[in-house]
Amino acid sequence: MTHQITLIPGDGIGPEVADATVRVVEATGVQVEWERVNAGLNALEEYGELLPDEVFASLSATHVGLKGPTATPVASGHQSINVALRKKLGLYVNFRPVRMLPGLKTRFHDVPVNLAIFRENTEDLYSGLEHEVVPGVVESLKIITEAASTRIARAAFEYARREGRCKVTAIHKANIMKQSDGLFLKCCREVSSHYPGVEYNELIVDNACMQLVMRPESFDLLVMPNLYGDILSDLAAGLVGGLGIVPGANLGDNTAIFEAVHGTAPDIAGKGLANPTALIQSAVLMLAHLGERDASRRLESALECVYMQKDRLTGDVGGKASTSEFTDAVISRL
Ligand code: NAI
Repeated sequence: MTHQITLIPGDGIGPEVADATVRVVEATGVQVEWERVNAGLNALEEYGELLPDEVFASLSATHVGLKGPTATPVASGHQSINVALRKKLGLYVNFRPVRMLPGLKTRFHDVPVNLAIFRENTEDLYSGLEHEVVPGVVESLKIITEAASTRIARAAFEYARREGRCKVTAIHKANIMKQSDGLFLKCCREVSSHYPGVEYNELIVDNACMQLVMRPESFDLLVMPNLYGDILSDLAAGLVGGLGIVPGANLGDNTAIFEAVHGTAPDIAGKGLANPTALIQSAVLMLAHLGERDASRRLESALECVYMQKDRLTGDVGGKASTSEFTDAVISRL
């Protein structure tokens, strides 16, 4: 079977890590027809808009996307591309598995970190509702709804049950935001009552940050509203070697977009130095999502072999290899 996948290479190092990922996916033997579409600054130059309609048209047809990082001009009035994609396509789950790659030396390499982070992806302070009340006073609206909180909690518990995760921790600040985060917790508690086999607990976000650094191994699955998820998933990435490592998936009922956690890395773009691991790990998730479980496992093992052998790693993780040398090494292990 041939899979149709929308490929959004993105900006900065995006095209470099996207090309590397396309090469390794093709090397697994899985048949893919890539539909390349542009979004980001390159699309702004070409079409006059950051997110042209053809991106939505392609994703509406393929239902699966692989996306490199895209730059959103800061304070320019443009809506973030990622926020727009997630809202328009109903990608309400942001899923980030965070685990230590075998052989990778990090500050925490002795600690068996293996977390699954479920971040609500469509509301909270990312609703984009900001206004100036009077000159010098700006208000941002934090929107939390029962519907969105319940569906992210359900996605988290379903995943826990399916993948054998034992404990779900809801992250919040309901001691201060009693109504909004209070509603989020109420929904998590209600959903948890339908999963008696999965332990459920709650943690205030500031305490969660400290505990994640002190005892990351004590966490299993974390579920939280959008802003805490954005911050905690980068914190968690730092535990296992940084942004060049960790994959991500934006999941809805009909469409899924797989993307790395990192940005466009303008400081190293075009130099052949980018680490494609995060996007390759996102492709591991994508292959499993497409039902290509064998190819997904083989790609994951090939990646792990390269990390174990250590001689073809990129600069961000202590090696000297270029993006293409690292990619060649993964392909040779497949
Ligand atoms: P960044 O993630 O691009 O870079 C932070 C640091 O990490 C830099 O030193 C960079 O060289 C390094 N880095 C990131 N990915 C790497 C990789 N794969 N291999 C090796 N080193 C890597 O974050 P920054 O600088 O805050 O953002 C730059 C741009 O990216 C901004 O325009 C931002 O809006 C955009 N961005 C896009 C995202 C997306 O599309 N998903 C996510 C985050 C940022």
